[in-house]
Amino acid sequence: MNAEEISRVACVGGGTIGFSWAVLFAQHGLQVKIYDISDEALAWTRREIDCAFETLVDAGRMTNSDVAAALNRITTTTDLAEALHDVDFVQESGPERYRIKGEIYRELDQFARPDAILASSTSAMLMTEIQAATTRPERCVVAHPYNPPHIVPSVEIVPGEATSAETVALTRDFMARLDRVPVVARKECRGHIVNHMQAAIYREALWLVGNGVATVEEIDLAFRTGPGLRLALMGPFAVGMLTSTGGLQDTFVDRKLDHSVEDDIPSRVEREAPPRTPELAREWAKLCTAQMEAVLAETDMEQVKKWRDKKLLQILDVIASD
Ligand SMILES: NC(=O)c1ccc[n+]([C@@H]2O[C@H](COP(=O)([O-])OP(=O)(O)OC[C@H]3O[C@@H](n4cnc5c(N)ncnc54)[C@H](O)[C@@H]3O)[C@@H](O)[C@H]2O)c1
Repeated sequence: MNAEEISRVACVGGGTIGFSWAVLFAQHGLQVKIYDISDEALAWTRREIDCAFETLVDAGRMTNSDVAAALNRITTTTDLAEALHDVDFVQESGPERYRIKGEIYRELDQFARPDAILASSTSAMLMTEIQAATTRPERCVVAHPYNPPHIVPSVEIVPGEATSAETVALTRDFMARLDRVPVVARKECRGHIVNHMQAAIYREALWLVGNGVATVEEIDLAFRTGPGLRLALMGPFAVGMLTSTGGLQDTFVDRKLDHSVEDDIPSRVEREAPPRTPELAREWAKLCTAQMEAVLAETDMEQVKKWRDKKLLQILDVIASD
């Protein structure tokens, strides 16, 4: 099987990420079967799919007849064997727990065709651990998207220790065929590439809120109107090249980002801050959540999601233009 021959796909888990994969696959002419554990879950999935297509029509990306054809290609079921029957590619988007992924992968192995690819959306987990539950570890791979996958192009492809080079190449080519931007990690690592980095950002954001330097609202405002704008255009290394006349060496070493240089003077808040512990991080997370809930108390998050998707599409247009 090559990437062009993939025509039938199963989405296992129809939550935030699963429904969006289904939209992407159906948009590209593939037959999509969505599995989830209950009818209620699938009713939510179908509502989200309708909403996503509505936004794509509003943004001029699809016509109503494109949508009708795409919807015709999507079916939903609570029967896993039925969902997996004769599919070429499985995109698993179940809960982020090793125990649950293990159970799901055992069943995928049982019901999917022996040559089907079993790709996981996992945000941070190791494929080496997940693929051990199957008799075909060489066909298992991480294909990690960014939310929402039907709009955001990046997909990290991460092999486990037993994943074959053929599976990596096939998944990469398949993602490229769907107009995604696949990046293949050279080694597996918790959080893959970007979530590994994102963890550092969240760790420091919690520290800043926990130590009273800024509120969640202030951090979000500063971030999106500053680095967020630049990062939509360039990666952190390219940004760094333009940050100083001395290029990256200047940016990273000569006192711009490296706070540990000899003559650096820590602020009072840094000197007085308690050592970081998991308990403290949990407490700070609660504080951030409470602040964010207060900020969003009057906000309709469904409208925010629609607004985000519309703006993301516009940003992609701007980036693609000269
Ligand atoms: N939310 C994100 O921004 C994001 C981004 C990239 C990757 N991911 C990854 O995608 C996966 C799914 O995350 P999500 O945010 O869509 O979660 P979610 O909670 O929105 O959806 C998970 C879905 O899995 C279903 N489910 C529960 N048990 C299941 C089982 N045994 N088999 C199949 N489905 C089952 C749930 O009913 C639910 O619909 C996770 O591995 C996550 O790390 C999430």
